[in-house]
Order: sequence, then C-alpha cells, then structure tokens
Amino acid sequence: MLSLIINNVVIFAGIGGFLALLLVIADYFLANYGDCQIDINGKKKLTVKGGSSLLNSLAENNVFIPSACGGRGTCGLCKVKVKEGGGPLLPTERPYLDADELKNGVRLSCQVKVKEDIIISIPEALFSIRKFKGVVETIIDYTYDTKGLVIKLIEPAKIDFKAGQYIQLESKKYAKSKQVVSRAYSMANCPENNNVVELIIRRVPDGIMTTFVHDYLKKDDELYLTGPYGDFFIRDTDTDMIFVAGGSGMAPFKGIIEDLYKKESKQHIVYFFGARTTEDLFLVDEMKEYEKKMADFTFIPVISQPEKSPDWKGESGYIPPLLDKHIRDPKNTEGYLCGSPALIASTEKKMKELGIENVYYDSFG
Ligand code: FES
Repeated sequence: MLSLIINNVVIFAGIGGFLALLLVIADYFLANYGDCQIDINGKKKLTVKGGSSLLNSLAENNVFIPSACGGRGTCGLCKVKVKEGGGPLLPTERPYLDADELKNGVRLSCQVKVKEDIIISIPEALFSIRKFKGVVETIIDYTYDTKGLVIKLIEPAKIDFKAGQYIQLESKKYAKSKQVVSRAYSMANCPENNNVVELIIRRVPDGIMTTFVHDYLKKDDELYLTGPYGDFFIRDTDTDMIFVAGGSGMAPFKGIIEDLYKKESKQHIVYFFGARTTEDLFLVDEMKEYEKKMADFTFIPVISQPEKSPDWKGESGYIPPLLDKHIRDPKNTEGYLCGSPALIASTEKKMKELGIENVYYDSFG
C-alpha cells in the first residue's frame, strides 16, 4: 500500500514537473509580447521588445543597473523600484529584499521579465553609467592566484569616478566557456588616472570570469566594461580612518590611498591588509612607500596562517583584535572595509563595540 502511494506521488510530481518545463519552453519559444514601454523616473521612455529581463532590456538601451552575478539572481545588486507592471514577485527575489523594499515594490531587475508596459524608478546617478571599450595594456602577476589588469580606455577614452568605486567587466567566449558573463571589480587606480581602469582579480576555481582573465586574456585584447558603480568611497570629513582589506579587497584601497596621497591628506590613517600566508601578500613595498610619503599613514599586513610562514615577523592572527591599539578616538574615526562577508561581519562588529559609528564596506558576497 505504502509503495503504491509513493509511486503515485512520484508519478504526479513527475507529470507536474514535465508540465512546468513545457510551460517554460513554450513561454521561451512561442510567447510574443510585442513592443513594451519602460518608463524610467517619468523622464525617459524606452520601447523594447518584450520577453527579455528588465535588466537586459535596460542595458540594451544603455541604462546600466549594478549586477555582479550576470543576471543569475544571486548577487541582489540589481534592485529597481517597479511602480507598475513587472508581474508577481518570484521566490528567487524574496531572500534579497527586506520588508521595506517589499512594501515599496523593489524588485530584482534580472528576475523581472518585460511582458507589458512597466513604470520603474532608479537613482538618477545610474544614468551617468557608461559602457566602455578598452584594450589590455598590462597584466601583472601579483601572486600565484592574483593578477592585476591595466585596461586602457578607447571609447569613451576617460571615466569619471570616485576612488573606491567599481566597474563590471564583460568576459568573452573561450575554449572552456561559451557563456559571456559580467562581474563586478573595484577600480584600483585613482581618479587622476582616468584614461585607464586598473583591476585586481583573484582566481576563483572554475570561475568563468577569473578563468578567462587568468588563462586566456592577453595583452592588447579588447574588453568591454560598464561603470562607475557603487558608494564605497571616502566621505568628505577630516576624521581618523581605519581601512581593513582581505586579498583582492586591496583594490579599492590602492586607488583610495593614491588619491589621498595626491590630495596631500593629513588624516590619521591605519590600513590593515589580511592575507593567509606571505605568498598571498602583494603591494607591500608600495604601501610601505606611502608610509614614508604621507603625513600620517600606517600599513599593517597581517598573516592569518603564520604556521605556514615561519619567517614572518609581522602581525598575525585575526584583524579585529588588533584594532584597539590603533584607534585614538572612536567618535572621531571612520571604518572602511573590503573583503569576504566573514571579514566584514567580524570587523564591523568589533568596530561598533569599540564605539566607531560610521563603518562603510564593500563585501565580496
Ligand atoms: S544581477 Fe545579480 S541578482 Fe540580479
């Protein structure tokens, strides 16, 4: 009897799944939504062919919404406010939206399919994001798994940005991947050098983009990117600042420190840079040079696995317990963090415990 029930459940589940699949295929191949209008902020109207995601429909019309996962619904960055149209909220969107956002009609634009006229609202700043064509000028081997890229911009030839912001880089098809993806990377140059985009890219095992960059990309190759995005930049204050980065989280701070140096900043700045072993450290000499050149800048590399680097004489262990002795006045200090979600969470918690109210971060998560 029990096996009969299980058999029936399996058969019905199979039929249900098959019908759902048929509906998806039919929707993909047969549905014709015709032309649809996207009204943006009541100021701009786009006519697009229905059937694509809102994210892609906007990008095809040079309106670029942040997206680090290439539209797979896993980064939660592509939020827009949908005032009308857009269909029902999908289960894939819910984990990325808080109660306020749900109430206000915020949606993940990569999950919203344009099937009818839509009215949306986006921050005005997104209108200034551009698509750039560039060529690879230099590839630098920082460590065994981390490369630096210098991309010379061709069209447009300059990018206006604030030190610390990010761009989205487009990959190309290559032997191991027919998929073209777009991934977010912080700019590692300062705004004064606005004819190039410098990136620091650490290899992710089997990552489509990082395999492309590490194994296939060559000098003089053409690339496309969009930007600038994000609000990870130094606030215009004269407070003390604590920077904390892990791995390729070095990128925005490289640009920020170059920028502060050029502006002759006198602020008290302490920069903790975390790496697993000495083999994972890079740009240490350059940062030590800034210690000499800047009024009040200290660079502290920290190794988390000192047992693998027996000759290491510097700081080791976790960064948060090291913060106390470098904070002069928590009420007059800002924290800036870039790295893994775990590093951000533990450092932010410690900074708040120490009384630092303003903590800004850029997470890899
Ligand atoms: S693009 Fe990443 S969630 Fe939409």
